[in-house]
Amino acid sequence: MIISSPLDYREAARRRLPRFLFDYVDGGAFGEETMTANRADLADIRLTQRVLRDISSLSLETTLFGESMAMPLMLAPIGLGGMMRRRGELQVARAARQVGIPYILSTVSVCSLTEVVEHIGQPIWFQLYVLKDRGFMRHALERAQALGVTKLVFTVDMPLPGARYRDAHSGMSGPNAPLRRMLQAVGRPGWSWDVGLLGRPHDLGNVSAYRGKPTDLADYIGWLGANFDPSITWSDLEWIRDAWKGEMIVKGILDPDDARDAVRFGADGVVVSNHGGRQLDGALSTARALPAIADAVGDELTVLVDGGVRTGLDVVRMLALGARGVLLGRAYIYALAAGGEAGVGRLLDLIAQGMKVSMALSGVKNVAEIDRNILS
Ligand code: GLV
Repeated sequence: MIISSPLDYREAARRRLPRFLFDYVDGGAFGEETMTANRADLADIRLTQRVLRDISSLSLETTLFGESMAMPLMLAPIGLGGMMRRRGELQVARAARQVGIPYILSTVSVCSLTEVVEHIGQPIWFQLYVLKDRGFMRHALERAQALGVTKLVFTVDMPLPGARYRDAHSGMSGPNAPLRRMLQAVGRPGWSWDVGLLGRPHDLGNVSAYRGKPTDLADYIGWLGANFDPSITWSDLEWIRDAWKGEMIVKGILDPDDARDAVRFGADGVVVSNHGGRQLDGALSTARALPAIADAVGDELTVLVDGGVRTGLDVVRMLALGARGVLLGRAYIYALAAGGEAGVGRLLDLIAQGMKVSMALSGVKNVAEIDRNILS
């Protein structure tokens, strides 16, 4: 299949993956209204076309949390990345290192943090949920610190999992799930060879490292569900703020008051996020929630955003709405599934090109110049 736009990777991934994995990534909560609104509201943002402003030299370089990066883009934490392609998280980490942007490894990755850091020979960013098992959290924080990780992304919008109806239909969960997954894999020989056979162990690497024994992937949803802590409040997080010496970025903020709480808590950054429409369906899209949050706390911490971002133009739109950086989620997982490390590399290249064209045509030369003045 010919890939000429970042949007092409979704269809390429759909053809490659067994349905339960494609739907796990592609789907959202309940009626998927918020997931759809993330894309639609972002597409609705209009930019100003400016001409004759000498845009011969354009720069995407950015510094966030004292770290310089090739562009204001980060690869978001996504569970089960290693099921999309053989040892998928290693491939993503290599592509991100090659381009010069951060990769945020999920708690529920297949490859453990240790495996990824040792493989690429440099620290990455790490994501942690609020879990009941404090022992697990302490273990994860200590490992991260020992491996040189300095940026922790703390996901707070999942005190319980949203209702993902597609997962029950697809065999990710629901009746006869293992049998249905096996039948789907038979219809996807490329994936079965690359991941099913050669991509083992299929494991939650970070959880297994803590438990000291392999974790069955079938436990994935069960383990998450059983371990989320619905009783959590900001004050329960104070020990983590104290225990973590590096930067802490709180992910899953959609309300300006919660963003102010994150400031009081001592966060260094927030990610304006509705978890890709996978949690509270009917919640605001991030393109609509972002401006008020940037106004409320943008001077006090670094405001990042995710949700519905697929192209370089989308990245520019989010920056114009007030974000300092953007997390890419489904977009790079589709590219990983479709083309592995090379697919992610090509996607990031297409996104960088898209950013440059969008900036040039709206008359800005660097990332710092992108602000609400380019909205029309
Ligand atoms: C995990 O965070 C998920 O959205 O499945």
